[in-house]
Amino acid sequence: MNTTLEQAKNNMISKGFLDVDTPEKIDYVKEIERLKKEKNAVILAHYYQEDAIQDIADFVGDSLALAQEAAKTDADIIVFAGVHFMAETAKILNPTKKVLLPDLKAGCSLADSCPPADFKAFTEAHPDHKVVTYINCSAEIKTMSDVVCTSGNAVKIIESFPKDQKIIFAPDKNLGDYLNKQTGRDMLLWDGACMVHEAFSIEKLLDLHAEHPDAEIIAHPESPAHILKTASFIGSTAGLLKYARESKKEKFIVATEAGILHEMIKQVSNKVLIPAPADEDNTCACSECAYMKLNTMKKLYTCMQHELPDVDVAPEMAAKALLPIERMLDLS
Ligand code: 13P
Ligand code: SF4
Repeated sequence: MNTTLEQAKNNMISKGFLDVDTPEKIDYVKEIERLKKEKNAVILAHYYQEDAIQDIADFVGDSLALAQEAAKTDADIIVFAGVHFMAETAKILNPTKKVLLPDLKAGCSLADSCPPADFKAFTEAHPDHKVVTYINCSAEIKTMSDVVCTSGNAVKIIESFPKDQKIIFAPDKNLGDYLNKQTGRDMLLWDGACMVHEAFSIEKLLDLHAEHPDAEIIAHPESPAHILKTASFIGSTAGLLKYARESKKEKFIVATEAGILHEMIKQVSNKVLIPAPADEDNTCACSECAYMKLNTMKKLYTCMQHELPDVDVAPEMAAKALLPIERMLDLS
Protein backbone atom coordinates (compact mmCIF):
# COMPACT_ATOMS: atom_id res chain seq x y z
CA MET A 1 0.00 0.00 0.00
CA ASN A 2 1.39 3.46 -0.79
CA THR A 3 1.90 5.88 2.09
CA THR A 4 -1.02 8.18 1.27
CA LEU A 5 -3.41 5.27 1.04
CA GLU A 6 -2.05 3.81 4.24
CA GLN A 7 -2.43 7.15 6.02
CA ALA A 8 -6.01 7.47 4.78
CA LYS A 9 -6.79 3.95 5.92
CA ASN A 10 -5.21 4.51 9.35
CA ASN A 11 -7.20 7.71 9.63
CA MET A 12 -10.41 5.83 8.88
CA ILE A 13 -9.53 3.10 11.40
CA SER A 14 -8.66 5.63 14.08
CA LYS A 15 -11.98 7.43 13.57
CA GLY A 16 -13.75 4.10 13.82
CA PHE A 17 -15.17 4.29 10.28
CA LEU A 18 -13.29 1.30 8.98
CA ASP A 19 -13.41 -2.22 10.31
CA VAL A 20 -10.08 -3.64 9.21
CA ASP A 21 -10.31 -6.84 7.19
CA THR A 22 -8.69 -9.77 8.91
CA PRO A 23 -7.98 -13.20 7.47
CA GLU A 24 -10.67 -15.81 8.03
CA LYS A 25 -10.34 -18.31 10.88
CA ILE A 26 -7.82 -16.21 12.71
CA ASP A 27 -7.09 -17.46 16.23
CA TYR A 28 -7.64 -14.17 18.07
CA VAL A 29 -6.60 -15.56 21.45
CA LYS A 30 -3.27 -16.80 20.11
CA GLU A 31 -2.63 -13.67 18.03
CA ILE A 32 -3.52 -11.25 20.83
CA GLU A 33 -1.25 -13.15 23.24
CA ARG A 34 1.55 -12.92 20.66
CA LEU A 35 1.05 -9.18 20.14
CA LYS A 36 0.98 -8.57 23.89
CA LYS A 37 4.44 -10.10 24.25
CA GLU A 38 5.89 -8.62 21.04
CA LYS A 39 4.78 -5.08 21.89
CA ASN A 40 5.04 -5.20 25.69
CA ALA A 41 1.35 -4.29 25.80
CA VAL A 42 -1.02 -4.69 28.73
CA ILE A 43 -4.75 -5.24 28.29
CA LEU A 44 -6.89 -3.60 30.96
CA ALA A 45 -10.56 -4.60 30.81
CA HIS A 46 -13.70 -3.49 32.61
CA TYR A 47 -16.17 -6.04 34.00
CA TYR A 48 -18.74 -4.95 31.39
CA GLN A 49 -16.61 -6.16 28.47
CA GLU A 50 -17.63 -9.27 26.55
CA ASP A 51 -16.53 -12.56 28.16
CA ALA A 52 -13.66 -13.38 25.75
CA ILE A 53 -12.10 -9.94 26.27
CA GLN A 54 -12.27 -10.30 30.05
CA ASP A 55 -10.63 -13.72 29.72
CA ILE A 56 -7.69 -12.47 27.65
CA ALA A 57 -7.11 -9.29 29.66
CA ASP A 58 -4.10 -8.97 31.96
CA PHE A 59 -6.24 -7.14 34.47
CA VAL A 60 -10.03 -6.91 34.89
CA GLY A 61 -11.46 -4.45 37.35
CA ASP A 62 -13.82 -1.65 38.29
CA SER A 63 -13.09 1.95 37.27
CA LEU A 64 -10.98 2.64 40.38
CA ALA A 65 -8.84 -0.49 40.10
CA LEU A 66 -8.36 0.14 36.38
CA ALA A 67 -7.16 3.71 37.00
CA GLN A 68 -4.84 2.45 39.75
CA GLU A 69 -3.48 -0.25 37.44
CA ALA A 70 -2.99 2.28 34.61
CA ALA A 71 -1.09 4.54 37.02
CA LYS A 72 1.45 1.84 37.86
CA THR A 73 1.90 -0.18 34.67
CA ASP A 74 5.35 -0.45 33.11
CA ALA A 75 3.98 -1.72 29.77
CA ASP A 76 4.83 0.35 26.66
CA ILE A 77 1.30 0.15 25.30
CA ILE A 78 -1.95 0.20 27.28
CA VAL A 79 -4.85 -1.44 25.48
CA PHE A 80 -8.00 -0.25 27.19
CA ALA A 81 -10.90 -2.63 26.78
CA GLY A 82 -13.50 -0.29 28.14
CA VAL A 83 -14.97 3.04 27.09
CA HIS A 84 -13.44 6.34 26.01
CA PHE A 85 -13.31 8.16 29.37
CA MET A 86 -11.42 5.18 30.85
CA ALA A 87 -8.81 5.14 28.08
CA GLU A 88 -8.58 8.93 28.32
CA THR A 89 -7.88 8.68 32.07
CA ALA A 90 -5.15 6.10 31.36
CA LYS A 91 -3.62 8.47 28.78
CA ILE A 92 -3.71 11.41 31.21
CA LEU A 93 -1.85 9.21 33.71
CA ASN A 94 0.60 8.05 31.01
CA PRO A 95 1.10 10.95 28.57
CA THR A 96 4.16 9.37 26.93
CA LYS A 97 2.58 5.94 26.40
CA LYS A 98 0.36 4.81 23.59
CA VAL A 99 -3.17 4.09 24.84
CA LEU A 100 -5.35 2.08 22.47
CA LEU A 101 -9.14 1.76 22.51
CA PRO A 102 -10.45 -1.04 20.24
CA ASP A 103 -13.42 1.09 19.11
CA LEU A 104 -13.23 4.88 19.37
CA LYS A 105 -17.03 5.05 19.27
CA ALA A 106 -17.15 3.33 22.68
CA GLY A 107 -18.48 6.38 24.53
CA CYS A 108 -20.68 6.72 27.60
CA SER A 109 -24.19 8.17 27.95
CA LEU A 110 -23.27 9.52 31.38
CA ALA A 111 -20.17 11.33 30.14
CA ASP A 112 -22.22 12.67 27.21
CA SER A 113 -24.85 14.04 29.60
CA CYS A 114 -22.36 16.67 30.80
CA PRO A 115 -21.40 19.07 27.97
CA PRO A 116 -18.33 21.16 29.01
CA ALA A 117 -19.74 24.60 28.09
CA ASP A 118 -22.92 24.03 30.12
CA PHE A 119 -20.98 22.59 33.03
CA LYS A 120 -18.57 25.54 33.02
CA ALA A 121 -21.52 27.95 33.30
CA PHE A 122 -22.97 25.80 36.11
CA THR A 123 -19.74 25.85 38.16
CA GLU A 124 -19.29 29.59 37.53
CA ALA A 125 -22.79 30.19 38.87
CA HIS A 126 -21.73 28.48 42.14
CA PRO A 127 -18.20 29.77 42.84
CA ASP A 128 -18.35 28.82 46.53
CA HIS A 129 -18.79 25.12 45.69
CA LYS A 130 -16.04 22.51 45.38
CA VAL A 131 -16.49 20.29 42.35
CA VAL A 132 -16.45 16.50 42.70
CA THR A 133 -16.83 14.62 39.44
CA TYR A 134 -17.47 10.95 38.86
CA ILE A 135 -14.70 9.50 36.69
CA ASN A 136 -17.36 8.86 33.98
CA CYS A 137 -16.84 12.26 32.37
CA SER A 138 -14.63 13.80 29.68
CA ALA A 139 -11.10 15.13 30.26
CA GLU A 140 -12.46 18.64 29.78
CA ILE A 141 -14.94 18.16 32.64
CA LYS A 142 -12.11 16.79 34.78
CA THR A 143 -10.18 20.06 34.23
CA MET A 144 -13.06 21.83 36.02
CA SER A 145 -12.99 19.42 38.97
CA ASP A 146 -11.35 19.66 42.37
CA VAL A 147 -11.34 15.90 42.74
CA VAL A 148 -12.51 12.89 40.74
CA CYS A 149 -14.16 9.84 42.29
CA THR A 150 -15.50 6.44 41.31
CA SER A 151 -18.41 4.53 42.80
CA GLY A 152 -15.82 2.54 44.78
CA ASN A 153 -14.37 5.51 46.67
CA ALA A 154 -17.01 8.28 46.37
CA VAL A 155 -18.08 8.28 50.05
CA LYS A 156 -14.46 8.53 51.18
CA ILE A 157 -13.73 11.35 48.72
CA ILE A 158 -16.79 13.37 49.73
CA GLU A 159 -16.07 12.86 53.42
CA SER A 160 -12.58 14.28 52.90
CA PHE A 161 -14.27 17.72 52.67
CA PRO A 162 -15.45 19.54 55.81
CA LYS A 163 -19.14 18.89 56.56
CA ASP A 164 -20.10 22.51 55.78
CA GLN A 165 -18.25 22.63 52.43
CA LYS A 166 -20.69 23.24 49.56
CA ILE A 167 -20.17 20.68 46.79
CA ILE A 168 -21.27 20.22 43.19
CA PHE A 169 -21.47 16.56 42.21
CA ALA A 170 -21.53 15.60 38.51
CA PRO A 171 -22.52 14.08 36.21
CA ASP A 172 -24.59 11.23 37.73
CA LYS A 173 -27.71 12.40 39.57
CA ASN A 174 -28.52 8.86 40.79
CA LEU A 175 -25.09 8.28 42.30
CA GLY A 176 -25.17 11.86 43.65
CA ASP A 177 -28.56 11.30 45.31
CA TYR A 178 -27.32 8.03 46.82
CA LEU A 179 -24.17 9.79 48.10
CA ASN A 180 -26.20 12.65 49.61
CA LYS A 181 -28.18 10.04 51.58
CA GLN A 182 -25.04 8.12 52.60
CA THR A 183 -23.04 11.14 53.73
CA GLY A 184 -25.86 13.40 54.99
CA ARG A 185 -24.75 16.14 52.59
CA ASP A 186 -26.80 18.30 50.29
CA MET A 187 -24.56 18.32 47.21
CA LEU A 188 -25.82 20.19 44.19
CA LEU A 189 -26.39 17.52 41.54
CA TRP A 190 -25.84 17.70 37.79
CA ASP A 191 -28.75 16.15 35.89
CA GLY A 192 -26.95 13.27 34.16
CA ALA A 193 -27.56 9.53 34.14
CA CYS A 194 -26.36 6.20 32.76
CA MET A 195 -28.86 4.78 30.28
CA VAL A 196 -27.96 1.21 31.24
CA HIS A 197 -28.89 1.63 34.90
CA GLU A 198 -31.87 3.88 34.11
CA ALA A 199 -33.22 1.05 31.94
CA PHE A 200 -34.07 -1.29 34.83
CA SER A 201 -37.79 -1.88 35.22
CA ILE A 202 -39.03 -1.62 38.81
CA GLU A 203 -42.22 -3.56 37.95
CA LYS A 204 -40.30 -6.44 36.37
CA LEU A 205 -37.76 -6.39 39.19
CA LEU A 206 -40.45 -6.65 41.86
CA ASP A 207 -42.18 -9.46 39.93
CA LEU A 208 -38.87 -11.29 39.63
CA HIS A 209 -38.19 -10.85 43.34
CA ALA A 210 -41.67 -12.20 44.12
CA GLU A 211 -40.77 -15.29 42.06
CA HIS A 212 -37.47 -15.61 43.95
CA PRO A 213 -38.17 -14.32 47.47
CA ASP A 214 -35.03 -16.07 48.73
CA ALA A 215 -32.83 -13.90 46.47
CA GLU A 216 -31.16 -10.67 47.57
CA ILE A 217 -31.22 -7.71 45.22
CA ILE A 218 -27.77 -6.12 44.87
CA ALA A 219 -27.40 -2.93 42.83
CA HIS A 220 -24.95 -0.44 41.37
CA PRO A 221 -25.41 3.14 42.69
CA GLU A 222 -25.87 4.47 39.14
CA SER A 223 -29.35 2.91 39.40
CA PRO A 224 -32.31 5.21 40.17
CA ALA A 225 -33.50 5.58 43.79
CA HIS A 226 -36.58 3.35 43.31
CA ILE A 227 -34.29 0.46 42.27
CA LEU A 228 -31.78 1.18 45.06
CA LYS A 229 -34.62 1.11 47.62
CA THR A 230 -35.14 -2.58 46.87
CA ALA A 231 -31.46 -3.48 47.26
CA SER A 232 -29.89 -5.25 50.24
CA PHE A 233 -26.47 -4.11 49.08
CA ILE A 234 -25.32 -1.20 46.90
CA GLY A 235 -21.79 -1.00 45.51
CA SER A 236 -19.41 -0.57 42.59
CA THR A 237 -18.86 -3.54 40.29
CA ALA A 238 -15.94 -4.69 42.49
CA GLY A 239 -18.10 -4.08 45.58
CA LEU A 240 -20.93 -6.23 44.17
CA LEU A 241 -18.47 -9.05 43.42
CA LYS A 242 -17.04 -8.91 46.93
CA TYR A 243 -20.52 -8.92 48.48
CA ALA A 244 -21.70 -11.91 46.40
CA ARG A 245 -18.51 -13.76 47.38
CA GLU A 246 -18.67 -13.03 51.10
CA SER A 247 -22.42 -13.09 51.76
CA LYS A 248 -24.02 -16.21 53.23
CA LYS A 249 -26.90 -15.79 50.74
CA GLU A 250 -27.11 -18.29 47.89
CA LYS A 251 -29.13 -16.30 45.37
CA PHE A 252 -28.80 -12.75 44.00
CA ILE A 253 -30.65 -10.53 41.56
CA VAL A 254 -27.90 -8.34 40.15
CA ALA A 255 -28.84 -4.79 39.07
CA THR A 256 -25.94 -3.62 36.96
CA GLU A 257 -24.67 -4.18 33.43
CA ALA A 258 -24.90 -7.89 32.64
CA GLY A 259 -21.19 -8.26 31.77
CA ILE A 260 -20.44 -8.47 35.51
CA LEU A 261 -22.04 -11.92 35.58
CA HIS A 262 -19.07 -13.45 33.76
CA GLU A 263 -16.68 -12.72 36.64
CA MET A 264 -19.37 -13.24 39.27
CA ILE A 265 -20.13 -16.74 37.99
CA LYS A 266 -16.38 -17.52 38.17
CA GLN A 267 -16.14 -16.24 41.73
CA VAL A 268 -19.36 -17.74 43.12
CA SER A 269 -20.03 -20.73 40.90
CA ASN A 270 -22.06 -22.36 43.70
CA LYS A 271 -24.60 -19.50 43.89
CA VAL A 272 -27.57 -18.54 41.72
CA LEU A 273 -27.20 -15.22 39.87
CA ILE A 274 -30.08 -13.57 38.07
CA PRO A 275 -29.63 -10.36 36.02
CA ALA A 276 -32.11 -7.61 36.88
CA PRO A 277 -34.62 -7.08 34.05
CA ALA A 278 -34.66 -4.04 31.78
CA ASP A 279 -37.74 -2.17 30.62
CA GLU A 280 -37.16 -2.86 26.94
CA ASP A 281 -37.20 -6.43 25.71
CA ASN A 282 -33.71 -6.95 24.34
CA THR A 283 -31.53 -9.93 23.52
CA CYS A 284 -30.63 -10.78 27.12
CA ALA A 285 -33.78 -9.37 28.84
CA CYS A 286 -31.22 -7.65 31.07
CA SER A 287 -29.43 -4.33 30.67
CA GLU A 288 -26.34 -4.17 28.48
CA CYS A 289 -24.11 -1.20 27.67
CA ALA A 290 -24.07 -0.84 23.90
CA TYR A 291 -20.90 1.26 24.17
CA MET A 292 -18.99 -1.33 26.18
CA LYS A 293 -20.12 -4.03 23.79
CA LEU A 294 -18.68 -2.19 20.75
CA ASN A 295 -15.30 -3.71 21.62
CA THR A 296 -14.85 -7.19 20.15
CA MET A 297 -11.99 -9.69 19.99
CA LYS A 298 -11.53 -8.82 16.32
CA LYS A 299 -11.26 -5.10 17.06
CA LEU A 300 -8.94 -5.83 19.98
CA TYR A 301 -6.69 -7.80 17.65
CA THR A 302 -6.66 -5.23 14.84
CA CYS A 303 -6.07 -2.32 17.19
CA MET A 304 -3.08 -4.10 18.70
CA GLN A 305 -1.77 -5.04 15.28
CA HIS A 306 -2.03 -1.50 13.84
CA GLU A 307 -1.63 0.34 17.17
CA LEU A 308 -4.74 2.27 16.22
CA PRO A 309 -7.07 3.79 17.17
CA ASP A 310 -5.20 5.50 19.95
CA VAL A 311 -6.55 8.02 22.41
CA ASP A 312 -4.92 11.40 22.63
CA VAL A 313 -5.44 14.27 25.05
CA ALA A 314 -4.02 17.74 24.36
CA PRO A 315 -1.03 18.19 26.74
CA GLU A 316 -2.41 21.34 28.42
CA MET A 317 -5.75 19.69 29.07
CA ALA A 318 -4.08 16.48 30.25
CA ALA A 319 -1.91 18.39 32.73
CA LYS A 320 -5.00 20.12 34.21
CA ALA A 321 -7.11 16.94 34.28
CA LEU A 322 -4.30 15.02 35.98
CA LEU A 323 -4.56 17.04 39.21
CA PRO A 324 -8.07 15.88 40.31
CA ILE A 325 -7.28 12.31 39.20
CA GLU A 326 -4.09 12.28 41.28
CA ARG A 327 -6.01 13.74 44.22
CA MET A 328 -8.45 10.84 43.93
CA LEU A 329 -5.64 8.26 43.78
CA ASP A 330 -3.96 9.82 46.81
CA LEU A 331 -7.22 9.70 48.79
CA SER A 332 -8.05 6.09 47.76
P1 13P B 1 -17.54 0.76 38.32
O1 13P B 1 -16.92 -0.43 37.64
O2 13P B 1 -16.50 1.67 38.87
O3 13P B 1 -18.53 0.32 39.34
O4 13P B 1 -18.31 1.61 37.21
C1 13P B 1 -19.39 1.13 36.53
C2 13P B 1 -19.59 1.79 35.22
O5 13P B 1 -20.66 2.14 34.83
C3 13P B 1 -18.45 1.98 34.39
O6 13P B 1 -18.82 2.63 33.25
FE1 SF4 C 1 -21.43 4.79 30.62
FE2 SF4 C 1 -23.41 3.45 31.76
FE3 SF4 C 1 -22.04 2.32 29.78
FE4 SF4 C 1 -20.87 2.69 32.19
S1 SF4 C 1 -22.60 1.36 31.73
S2 SF4 C 1 -20.00 3.14 30.17
S3 SF4 C 1 -21.84 4.62 32.83
S4 SF4 C 1 -23.32 4.16 29.60
